[in-house]
Amino acid sequence: MKPRDRTPRVSALEPAPHPAWTEIRVLAPEGWLELVADALALSPCTSVAFGRPSLASEAAPEGLDYVRTFVPRELDTAQLRAQLESRLAGLAEATGAAELERISVRFLELPPEDYANSWKKTWKPFRVAHFAVVPMDWRGTPRTGDLRLVLEPGGAFGTGRHPTTRGCLRAVEQRVRPGARVLDAGCGNGVLAVASALRGAAHCLGFDIDPAALPYARELAQDNGVHGRCSFRVGGFECLGPLDRDFDGLCANLFADLIQAHAGDLAHRLKPGGWFAISGCRADLRGATLAALDAAGLELEQRSTRGRWDTYVGRRRGPA
Ligand SMILES: C[S@@+](CC[C@H](N)C(=O)[O-])C[C@H]1O[C@@H](n2cnc3c(N)ncnc32)[C@H](O)[C@@H]1O
Repeated sequence: MKPRDRTPRVSALEPAPHPAWTEIRVLAPEGWLELVADALALSPCTSVAFGRPSLASEAAPEGLDYVRTFVPRELDTAQLRAQLESRLAGLAEATGAAELERISVRFLELPPEDYANSWKKTWKPFRVAHFAVVPMDWRGTPRTGDLRLVLEPGGAFGTGRHPTTRGCLRAVEQRVRPGARVLDAGCGNGVLAVASALRGAAHCLGFDIDPAALPYARELAQDNGVHGRCSFRVGGFECLGPLDRDFDGLCANLFADLIQAHAGDLAHRLKPGGWFAISGCRADLRGATLAALDAAGLELEQRSTRGRWDTYVGRRRGPA
Protein backbone atom coordinates (compact mmCIF):
# COMPACT_ATOMS: atom_id res chain seq x y z
CA MET A 1 0.00 0.00 0.00
CA LYS A 2 1.19 3.53 -0.72
CA PRO A 3 0.04 6.55 1.26
CA ARG A 4 -1.75 9.11 -0.86
CA ASP A 5 0.61 11.90 -1.62
CA ARG A 6 -1.13 15.23 -1.24
CA THR A 7 1.99 17.28 -1.87
CA PRO A 8 1.49 19.37 -5.00
CA ARG A 9 4.00 18.01 -7.50
CA VAL A 10 2.85 19.89 -10.57
CA SER A 11 4.48 23.19 -11.30
CA ALA A 12 2.32 25.74 -13.11
CA LEU A 13 4.83 25.94 -15.91
CA GLU A 14 5.87 22.36 -16.33
CA PRO A 15 3.49 19.56 -15.32
CA ALA A 16 5.32 16.54 -13.87
CA PRO A 17 4.99 13.49 -16.12
CA HIS A 18 2.63 10.81 -14.82
CA PRO A 19 4.48 7.69 -13.67
CA ALA A 20 4.59 4.63 -15.88
CA TRP A 21 3.49 1.25 -14.47
CA THR A 22 3.58 -2.38 -15.48
CA GLU A 23 0.48 -4.50 -15.00
CA ILE A 24 1.14 -8.12 -14.06
CA ARG A 25 -1.89 -9.99 -15.35
CA VAL A 26 -2.42 -13.60 -14.31
CA LEU A 27 -5.11 -15.87 -15.73
CA ALA A 28 -6.02 -18.45 -13.10
CA PRO A 29 -8.73 -20.99 -12.24
CA GLU A 30 -11.68 -19.34 -10.48
CA GLY A 31 -11.45 -21.29 -7.21
CA TRP A 32 -7.86 -20.23 -6.63
CA LEU A 33 -7.85 -16.48 -7.17
CA GLU A 34 -7.08 -15.56 -3.54
CA LEU A 35 -4.15 -17.96 -3.44
CA VAL A 36 -2.79 -16.46 -6.65
CA ALA A 37 -3.26 -12.98 -5.14
CA ASP A 38 -1.16 -14.11 -2.15
CA ALA A 39 1.57 -15.29 -4.53
CA LEU A 40 1.59 -11.84 -6.17
CA ALA A 41 1.84 -10.05 -2.81
CA LEU A 42 5.54 -9.47 -3.24
CA SER A 43 7.18 -6.10 -2.72
CA PRO A 44 7.21 -3.77 -4.69
CA CYS A 45 3.94 -4.96 -6.27
CA THR A 46 1.05 -2.81 -5.08
CA SER A 47 -2.63 -3.59 -4.77
CA VAL A 48 -4.28 -6.65 -6.26
CA ALA A 49 -7.37 -6.42 -8.48
CA PHE A 50 -9.64 -9.25 -9.57
CA GLY A 51 -11.39 -9.58 -12.93
CA ARG A 52 -10.80 -7.92 -16.27
CA PRO A 53 -9.77 -4.27 -16.26
CA SER A 54 -12.94 -3.04 -17.96
CA LEU A 55 -16.02 -4.33 -19.74
CA ALA A 56 -14.33 -3.37 -22.99
CA SER A 57 -11.40 -5.71 -22.42
CA GLU A 58 -11.22 -9.38 -23.30
CA ALA A 59 -13.31 -11.62 -20.99
CA ALA A 60 -11.53 -14.53 -19.30
CA PRO A 61 -12.30 -17.98 -20.70
CA GLU A 62 -14.92 -20.09 -18.86
CA GLY A 63 -13.73 -21.24 -15.42
CA LEU A 64 -10.82 -18.77 -15.33
CA ASP A 65 -10.44 -15.19 -14.17
CA TYR A 66 -7.82 -12.48 -13.98
CA VAL A 67 -5.77 -11.50 -10.94
CA ARG A 68 -3.81 -8.31 -11.56
CA THR A 69 -1.16 -6.42 -9.69
CA PHE A 70 0.89 -3.37 -10.54
CA VAL A 71 4.50 -2.26 -10.20
CA PRO A 72 6.15 1.07 -11.03
CA ARG A 73 8.04 0.66 -14.30
CA GLU A 74 11.43 1.45 -12.77
CA LEU A 75 10.98 -1.42 -10.28
CA ASP A 76 9.83 -3.92 -12.91
CA THR A 77 13.05 -5.92 -13.13
CA ALA A 78 13.91 -9.27 -14.68
CA GLN A 79 14.58 -10.52 -11.15
CA LEU A 80 11.09 -9.51 -9.93
CA ARG A 81 9.48 -11.18 -12.96
CA ALA A 82 11.45 -14.38 -12.35
CA GLN A 83 10.46 -14.39 -8.65
CA LEU A 84 6.78 -13.95 -9.48
CA GLU A 85 6.89 -16.63 -12.17
CA SER A 86 8.55 -19.04 -9.77
CA ARG A 87 5.97 -18.36 -7.01
CA LEU A 88 3.14 -18.97 -9.46
CA ALA A 89 4.78 -22.09 -10.85
CA GLY A 90 5.14 -23.46 -7.31
CA LEU A 91 1.41 -23.26 -6.53
CA ALA A 92 0.42 -26.46 -8.34
CA GLU A 93 3.01 -28.47 -6.43
CA ALA A 94 2.27 -26.80 -3.08
CA THR A 95 -1.46 -27.54 -3.30
CA GLY A 96 -1.47 -30.70 -5.42
CA ALA A 97 -4.11 -29.00 -7.63
CA ALA A 98 -3.41 -29.94 -11.24
CA GLU A 99 -5.56 -27.05 -12.57
CA LEU A 100 -2.98 -24.59 -11.20
CA GLU A 101 -0.60 -25.82 -13.89
CA ARG A 102 -2.80 -23.83 -16.33
CA ILE A 103 -1.85 -20.47 -14.79
CA SER A 104 -0.45 -17.97 -17.28
CA VAL A 105 1.12 -14.58 -16.62
CA ARG A 106 1.63 -11.53 -18.82
CA PHE A 107 3.56 -8.32 -18.13
CA LEU A 108 1.82 -5.36 -19.77
CA GLU A 109 3.34 -1.91 -19.98
CA LEU A 110 0.59 0.55 -19.09
CA PRO A 111 0.55 3.97 -20.73
CA PRO A 112 1.53 6.78 -18.35
CA GLU A 113 -1.58 7.98 -16.52
CA ASP A 114 -2.46 9.80 -13.33
CA TYR A 115 -3.31 6.57 -11.49
CA ALA A 116 -3.47 8.39 -8.16
CA ASN A 117 -6.63 10.08 -9.41
CA SER A 118 -7.96 8.11 -12.37
CA TRP A 119 -9.74 5.55 -10.13
CA LYS A 120 -12.21 8.35 -9.40
CA LYS A 121 -13.67 7.94 -12.89
CA THR A 122 -15.03 4.50 -12.05
CA TRP A 123 -15.08 4.21 -8.24
CA LYS A 124 -18.59 4.72 -6.95
CA PRO A 125 -19.81 5.19 -3.37
CA PHE A 126 -21.36 2.08 -1.89
CA ARG A 127 -23.07 0.94 1.29
CA VAL A 128 -22.18 -1.74 3.81
CA ALA A 129 -24.93 -2.09 6.39
CA HIS A 130 -25.57 1.59 7.24
CA PHE A 131 -22.10 2.82 6.37
CA ALA A 132 -22.13 4.95 3.22
CA VAL A 133 -18.58 4.53 1.92
CA VAL A 134 -17.74 7.66 -0.06
CA PRO A 135 -14.69 9.51 -1.41
CA MET A 136 -13.48 12.66 0.31
CA ASP A 137 -14.99 15.06 -2.21
CA TRP A 138 -18.42 13.37 -2.32
CA ARG A 139 -21.20 15.92 -2.35
CA GLY A 140 -24.21 13.58 -2.18
CA THR A 141 -26.60 13.20 0.74
CA PRO A 142 -26.44 9.97 2.73
CA ARG A 143 -29.73 8.13 3.34
CA THR A 144 -31.39 8.75 6.68
CA GLY A 145 -29.59 6.68 9.31
CA ASP A 146 -26.46 6.19 7.21
CA LEU A 147 -23.05 6.99 8.61
CA ARG A 148 -20.64 8.60 6.16
CA LEU A 149 -17.34 6.71 6.02
CA VAL A 150 -14.79 8.56 3.89
CA LEU A 151 -12.53 6.04 2.21
CA GLU A 152 -10.42 6.42 -0.89
CA PRO A 153 -8.89 3.27 -2.32
CA GLY A 154 -5.19 2.97 -1.64
CA GLY A 155 -4.19 -0.68 -1.55
CA ALA A 156 -5.28 -4.31 -1.56
CA PHE A 157 -7.28 -3.85 1.60
CA GLY A 158 -8.06 -0.24 1.02
CA THR A 159 -11.41 -0.34 -0.68
CA GLY A 160 -13.73 -1.71 2.01
CA ARG A 161 -15.32 -3.92 -0.64
CA HIS A 162 -13.70 -7.24 0.25
CA PRO A 163 -16.27 -9.70 1.66
CA THR A 164 -14.21 -10.19 4.83
CA THR A 165 -14.08 -6.43 5.52
CA ARG A 166 -17.80 -6.14 4.80
CA GLY A 167 -18.55 -9.00 7.22
CA CYS A 168 -16.66 -7.17 9.99
CA LEU A 169 -18.25 -3.81 9.14
CA ARG A 170 -21.71 -5.36 9.60
CA ALA A 171 -20.67 -6.63 13.04
CA VAL A 172 -19.21 -3.22 13.95
CA GLU A 173 -22.53 -1.64 13.13
CA GLN A 174 -24.48 -4.13 15.24
CA ARG A 175 -22.13 -4.41 18.20
CA VAL A 176 -20.21 -1.18 18.88
CA ARG A 177 -21.80 0.85 21.69
CA PRO A 178 -20.95 4.50 22.45
CA GLY A 179 -17.93 4.76 24.72
CA ALA A 180 -16.63 1.28 23.85
CA ARG A 181 -12.96 0.31 23.53
CA VAL A 182 -12.28 -1.72 20.40
CA LEU A 183 -9.21 -3.66 19.26
CA ASP A 184 -8.52 -4.06 15.52
CA ALA A 185 -5.99 -6.85 14.92
CA GLY A 186 -4.48 -6.68 11.42
CA CYS A 187 -5.96 -3.23 10.90
CA GLY A 188 -4.59 -2.62 7.37
CA ASN A 189 -5.85 0.83 6.43
CA GLY A 190 -7.73 1.04 9.74
CA VAL A 191 -11.20 0.84 8.22
CA LEU A 192 -12.65 -1.27 11.05
CA ALA A 193 -11.15 0.88 13.81
CA VAL A 194 -12.35 4.04 12.08
CA ALA A 195 -15.84 2.59 11.50
CA SER A 196 -15.98 1.63 15.19
CA ALA A 197 -15.04 5.18 16.18
CA LEU A 198 -17.73 6.53 13.84
CA ARG A 199 -20.20 4.30 15.70
CA GLY A 200 -19.18 6.07 18.90
CA ALA A 201 -16.31 3.98 20.29
CA ALA A 202 -14.25 6.04 22.73
CA HIS A 203 -10.97 4.44 21.74
CA CYS A 204 -9.88 2.03 19.02
CA LEU A 205 -6.45 0.44 18.92
CA GLY A 206 -5.31 -1.03 15.62
CA PHE A 207 -2.09 -2.88 14.89
CA ASP A 208 -0.62 -4.29 11.72
CA ILE A 209 2.57 -6.10 10.93
CA ASP A 210 2.92 -4.14 7.68
CA PRO A 211 4.56 -0.76 8.39
CA ALA A 212 3.22 0.53 5.04
CA ALA A 213 -0.35 0.22 6.36
CA LEU A 214 0.07 2.69 9.18
CA PRO A 215 0.20 5.99 7.29
CA TYR A 216 -3.04 4.91 5.58
CA ALA A 217 -4.69 4.10 8.88
CA ARG A 218 -3.70 7.41 10.42
CA GLU A 219 -4.85 9.28 7.34
CA LEU A 220 -8.17 7.43 7.25
CA ALA A 221 -8.80 8.32 10.91
CA GLN A 222 -7.93 11.94 10.12
CA ASP A 223 -10.15 12.04 7.01
CA ASN A 224 -13.06 10.82 9.13
CA GLY A 225 -12.39 13.19 12.01
CA VAL A 226 -11.83 10.38 14.54
CA HIS A 227 -8.03 10.54 14.85
CA GLY A 228 -8.38 11.59 18.50
CA ARG A 229 -10.06 8.27 19.25
CA CYS A 230 -7.92 5.90 17.15
CA SER A 231 -4.33 4.84 17.66
CA PHE A 232 -2.30 2.50 15.53
CA ARG A 233 0.86 0.46 16.07
CA VAL A 234 3.21 -1.41 13.78
CA GLY A 235 3.72 -5.02 14.77
CA GLY A 236 2.15 -8.42 15.34
CA PHE A 237 0.50 -9.66 18.53
CA GLU A 238 3.76 -9.06 20.42
CA CYS A 239 3.15 -5.30 20.17
CA LEU A 240 0.26 -5.63 22.64
CA GLY A 241 1.19 -5.06 26.26
CA PRO A 242 -0.35 -6.13 29.57
CA LEU A 243 -2.53 -3.00 29.68
CA ASP A 244 -4.06 -3.69 26.27
CA ARG A 245 -6.99 -5.69 27.63
CA ASP A 246 -10.59 -5.38 28.79
CA PHE A 247 -11.72 -4.36 25.31
CA ASP A 248 -15.47 -4.28 24.77
CA GLY A 249 -15.04 -5.70 21.30
CA LEU A 250 -12.49 -6.76 18.77
CA CYS A 251 -12.17 -7.19 15.02
CA ALA A 252 -9.58 -9.52 13.56
CA ASN A 253 -9.73 -9.78 9.79
CA LEU A 254 -6.67 -12.00 9.56
CA PHE A 255 -6.03 -15.50 8.26
CA ALA A 256 -7.29 -18.79 9.69
CA ASP A 257 -3.83 -19.97 10.79
CA LEU A 258 -3.18 -16.74 12.69
CA ILE A 259 -6.62 -16.83 14.31
CA GLN A 260 -6.06 -20.42 15.37
CA ALA A 261 -2.64 -19.59 16.80
CA HIS A 262 -3.77 -16.42 18.60
CA ALA A 263 -7.35 -17.26 19.64
CA GLY A 264 -6.30 -17.44 23.30
CA ASP A 265 -4.56 -14.07 23.16
CA LEU A 266 -7.55 -12.46 21.44
CA ALA A 267 -9.94 -13.86 24.05
CA HIS A 268 -7.67 -12.69 26.87
CA ARG A 269 -7.83 -9.10 25.52
CA LEU A 270 -11.64 -9.02 25.69
CA LYS A 271 -13.81 -8.36 28.71
CA PRO A 272 -15.98 -11.33 29.66
CA GLY A 273 -19.09 -10.92 27.50
CA GLY A 274 -17.15 -8.76 25.00
CA TRP A 275 -17.94 -9.30 21.33
CA PHE A 276 -15.65 -10.40 18.51
CA ALA A 277 -15.82 -10.23 14.70
CA ILE A 278 -13.27 -12.55 13.16
CA SER A 279 -12.90 -12.87 9.41
CA GLY A 280 -10.43 -13.71 6.68
CA CYS A 281 -10.78 -17.38 7.62
CA ARG A 282 -10.98 -19.87 4.77
CA ALA A 283 -14.23 -21.81 4.90
CA ASP A 284 -12.42 -25.10 4.22
CA LEU A 285 -10.48 -24.62 7.51
CA ARG A 286 -13.66 -23.89 9.48
CA GLY A 287 -13.52 -26.97 11.74
CA ALA A 288 -10.07 -26.18 13.13
CA THR A 289 -10.76 -22.45 13.42
CA LEU A 290 -14.04 -22.87 15.30
CA ALA A 291 -12.43 -25.48 17.59
CA ALA A 292 -9.66 -22.98 18.44
CA LEU A 293 -12.20 -20.21 19.15
CA ASP A 294 -14.27 -22.51 21.34
CA ALA A 295 -11.21 -23.72 23.28
CA ALA A 296 -10.28 -20.07 23.90
CA GLY A 297 -13.71 -19.34 25.38
CA LEU A 298 -15.00 -17.48 22.33
CA GLU A 299 -18.58 -18.48 21.66
CA LEU A 300 -19.88 -18.31 18.11
CA GLU A 301 -23.22 -16.54 17.64
CA GLN A 302 -23.30 -15.84 13.89
CA ARG A 303 -21.43 -17.21 10.90
CA SER A 304 -21.58 -15.87 7.37
CA THR A 305 -19.79 -17.14 4.30
CA ARG A 306 -18.97 -15.22 1.10
CA GLY A 307 -17.08 -17.21 -1.49
CA ARG A 308 -14.20 -18.94 0.27
CA TRP A 309 -14.33 -16.69 3.33
CA ASP A 310 -16.02 -17.15 6.68
CA THR A 311 -16.84 -14.39 9.17
CA TYR A 312 -17.47 -15.41 12.78
CA VAL A 313 -19.22 -13.12 15.26
CA GLY A 314 -19.79 -13.94 18.90
CA ARG A 315 -18.84 -13.23 22.51
CA ARG A 316 -16.27 -14.18 25.08
CA ARG A 317 -17.97 -16.48 27.57
CA GLY A 318 -18.64 -15.03 30.97
CA PRO A 319 -20.89 -12.40 32.48
CA ALA A 320 -21.15 -9.19 30.44
C1 LIG B 1 -7.18 -9.09 5.36
S1 LIG B 1 -6.27 -7.67 5.78
C2 LIG B 1 -7.46 -6.81 6.77
C3 LIG B 1 -7.34 -5.31 6.71
C4 LIG B 1 -8.51 -4.54 7.34
N1 LIG B 1 -8.60 -4.84 8.76
C5 LIG B 1 -9.82 -4.90 6.67
O1 LIG B 1 -10.67 -5.54 7.30
O2 LIG B 1 -10.03 -4.52 5.49
C6 LIG B 1 -5.18 -8.42 6.93
C7 LIG B 1 -4.16 -7.49 7.52
O3 LIG B 1 -3.49 -8.21 8.54
C8 LIG B 1 -2.13 -7.85 8.54
N2 LIG B 1 -1.37 -8.93 9.23
C9 LIG B 1 -0.98 -10.12 8.72
N3 LIG B 1 -0.36 -10.84 9.69
C10 LIG B 1 -0.39 -10.09 10.81
C11 LIG B 1 0.08 -10.29 12.14
N4 LIG B 1 0.71 -11.40 12.52
N5 LIG B 1 -0.10 -9.31 13.04
C12 LIG B 1 -0.74 -8.15 12.69
N6 LIG B 1 -1.18 -7.91 11.43
C13 LIG B 1 -1.03 -8.87 10.51
C14 LIG B 1 -1.79 -7.66 7.08
O4 LIG B 1 -0.65 -6.83 6.91
C15 LIG B 1 -3.08 -7.04 6.55
O5 LIG B 1 -3.01 -5.62 6.57
